[in-house]
Amino acid sequence: MRRLLIAGNWKMHMTAGETEHFFKDFLPPFSEEPLKGALAKGHIEVAFFPAFTSLYVASFAMEGAPKGFSLGAQNVHWEAKGAFTGEISPSMVAESGCRYCLVGHSERRHLFGETDEMTQRKIGALHDVSLKPVFCVGETLEEREKGKTFPVVERQLLAGFDGVPSEKLSLETVVAYEPVWAIGTGKTASESDAQEACHYLRAVVARHFGKDAADGIRILYGGSVKPGNTAKLLAMDDIDGVLVGGASLKSDSFLDIVKAAVTTLGA
Ligand code: PGA
Repeated sequence: MRRLLIAGNWKMHMTAGETEHFFKDFLPPFSEEPLKGALAKGHIEVAFFPAFTSLYVASFAMEGAPKGFSLGAQNVHWEAKGAFTGEISPSMVAESGCRYCLVGHSERRHLFGETDEMTQRKIGALHDVSLKPVFCVGETLEEREKGKTFPVVERQLLAGFDGVPSEKLSLETVVAYEPVWAIGTGKTASESDAQEACHYLRAVVARHFGKDAADGIRILYGGSVKPGNTAKLLAMDDIDGVLVGGASLKSDSFLDIVKAAVTTLGA
């Protein structure tokens, strides 16, 4: 069974002070059932992707928390060090207490020019320091309307994974299918459309990297995930978690998403 990953991408929100406040509200319910048991059994993992400036505060806040919480960064440079003003290296991310790092998020692709080639370099650099990429792929509305969803996500996936050994995929890599038209728009993909795309991506992994990689790799759905649509999405065979933007910024709505995920485990 693949472990469910419920991930909150905070984007450019939440100062260090706001982060501290968030965790004061968010963590207490995890010392009670059913959340306590679900985390302790290792069936679910909850990850946060705060801004770089809030990573230390988040890591400190989580120190006393039960196992099952993780941190991730929202971006990374592929070089180990050098004259790259404003950039953050993989080992800097790792030392900040992160286990994960987003790569290829649509905002990075569309607003900051992140290319397929850059995603490939970042994924390799993250694996080199044992960080797990959460690799985002997804089509625009125009591409979907032209029937190009599958070729677009396949191109993105294979470009990013070029040269990655298959054993790195099953346990050390996460894919997030995030249709661009669903991000921050309130329009969620239907669970069957999300399942179809995630199933397709898993089949692409199987074809190019083998069955073990395809069986092990976790594939998330992201794009206007809310407490009300989480359970339906997670009930789909190929959806192993959710990547949540807006609804992860308020502790009560993100908690409701985690609770909805726990109900799908029957825990
Ligand atoms: P959203 O963002 O949940 O606000 O649509 C998702 C994401 O960008 O990862």
